[in-house]
Amino acid sequence: MEKERMRIVIAGHVDHGKSTVIGRILADTGSLPQGKLEQVKVNCAKNAKPFEYAFLLDALKDEQAQGITIDAARCFFQTQRRHYIIIDAPGHIEFLKNMVTGAANAEAALIVIDAKEGIQENTKRHGYLVSMLGLKQVVVAVNKMDLTGYSQAVFEQTERDYRKFLSEFNLNPVAFVPVSAFFGENMIEKSTQMPWYQGLSLLEQIDALERETLAARLAQPFRFPLQGVYKFTEEGDERRIFSGTVETGKVSVGDEVIFLPSNKKSRVQSVEEFNRPPADSAQAGQAIGFTLNTQVYVQPGELLVKTSETQPQVASRFKANIFWMGRAPLIKNKRYKLKIAAKRIQVRLVELVSVIDASDLGSELNKQQVDRHDVAECIFETVKPIAFDLSSQVDATARFVLVDDFEIAGGGIILGLAQTNESMTSLHVRHREEAWVRGWINQAKRAQRNGHQARCVLFTGDFGQGRRKMAAALEKRLFEANRACYFMAYTNLNLGLDSDFTPDQADRVEELRRLGELARVMTDAGLIFISVVSVEDGFDLELLKKLNEPNEMIVVNVGENRFAEFQVDLNVEPHSNEGRVADEVIAILERHQVL
Ligand code: GTP
Ligand code: MG
Repeated sequence: MEKERMRIVIAGHVDHGKSTVIGRILADTGSLPQGKLEQVKVNCAKNAKPFEYAFLLDALKDEQAQGITIDAARCFFQTQRRHYIIIDAPGHIEFLKNMVTGAANAEAALIVIDAKEGIQENTKRHGYLVSMLGLKQVVVAVNKMDLTGYSQAVFEQTERDYRKFLSEFNLNPVAFVPVSAFFGENMIEKSTQMPWYQGLSLLEQIDALERETLAARLAQPFRFPLQGVYKFTEEGDERRIFSGTVETGKVSVGDEVIFLPSNKKSRVQSVEEFNRPPADSAQAGQAIGFTLNTQVYVQPGELLVKTSETQPQVASRFKANIFWMGRAPLIKNKRYKLKIAAKRIQVRLVELVSVIDASDLGSELNKQQVDRHDVAECIFETVKPIAFDLSSQVDATARFVLVDDFEIAGGGIILGLAQTNESMTSLHVRHREEAWVRGWINQAKRAQRNGHQARCVLFTGDFGQGRRKMAAALEKRLFEANRACYFMAYTNLNLGLDSDFTPDQADRVEELRRLGELARVMTDAGLIFISVVSVEDGFDLELLKKLNEPNEMIVVNVGENRFAEFQVDLNVEPHSNEGRVADEVIAILERHQVL
């Protein structure tokens, strides 16, 4: 049987002995390449430097360049029971970055404390963060016991103090182990230097940890963040493959599934694995592709779940615990990018509940921003609803990262929903309208002159189905009837406002925002403003409609109507005769008494 694996992150204050602990474990479990230890010792002697176990890691780093399996941040060793991957965190920023981005989603943590120096700032910070990141399997190595003369009193005091600190946020380490990494005491075997210690050696203790087992992840509801959608082209059929990695749970062919937040349901038709025959089911940890038994159009970033299980939340406002490491502080009224599961979306800080210095956990209330290395409880709002879980339910899909200026600046976990009295978009529209500067000509006068009301007419649906032609035909028809109208293709706007603008997933909303604001201006000018836009879901249309307020909008969908929660005004077949569509839209405009 294959041995199980465990990923352990190692943390602790500077110089408390993390690298020495790792070096010692590697050396004493025979995990080093042949001759490495001797080579490093000889090198040290040659340079008249005292030998350090930490040098082993540096030496291994050099070999990484030559293609050996060990690198700066990760080391591997094994015991009878398992394979271990130790993730060293040089400085806690890297540690956090790795943890919050999931680059190092460890299952256990080893915190190292220097017995002589005692608990330091980062010892506390790391403890807090380990708990915030949801790690329950924590072992504390009280290191450099040799420097205290292997003092039982010092060890016990350290354990008491640190346990007290950790208990403030419900973290209960599995064990405290007194060691001297440098001298190898209590590392692999029980030390004879500390007869007063009854527990296991550090390695035995690590081996005794219970892994967050696959069974536990399988027991959670099925969560599949959609990474990509591919068309089967070879066989000329219309099937699509939905690809990604199963985070939790399992799913079988025939299960009813739903994409969130778009609310599109279907059933699993097949499970496709790269270079393998199709399977009947898929489970946590597998990178996989699905085909579904109906045509479903969704964008990467959605969360696929089973309809029969606990549903994730779909909302735009949530409460979270975050750790900030950005150079610039986290502030309100600035746009950030949120990455959660496969989703990337614009987000804003709405409210700061509390800002905490992680090293003493004293709340600094009334702080208006989150500075680097602060931990904070905040309320965020995404520009439109997203699907996520609460960390108390499914941890994996409750974790997120915040990006500021193309850099990961923070990470956190979602604790709960937050009430939305007024969305950020509504608030924006309200403020905008209050501040809107008007001339002497009002809408009524314009309507009188034009002989009709203003309106925004949006064509949406899939690309390449004749939307643009229909929009242009509508403009022509209206123009020839002496109506004040203007058709503008979406592209013109982005190219016109900022030619460097290349939207990624998160900035797609920025495109919508620009269009919505422009629609507001154009309709204010009394025009029938016509445009074509690709949207992901009904929430996008909602956003456009909101931004155009107080003016109104008509939405024409070309092709399959994919909007579960948004009522479009007209649905037309792909490549419909553009003249006929123009007639139908004009009929709607008449019905709405625009014309
Ligand atoms: P950073 O990576 O800089 O945060 O340090 P670290 O936590 O990796 O510490 P490292 O392992 O480099 O050890 C720091 C110093 O403490 C080195 O000089 C080690 O030799 C010494 N040291 C580590 N463990 C022990 C120990 O058990 N006893 C004694 N006396 N010294 C130790
Ligand atoms: Mg180190």
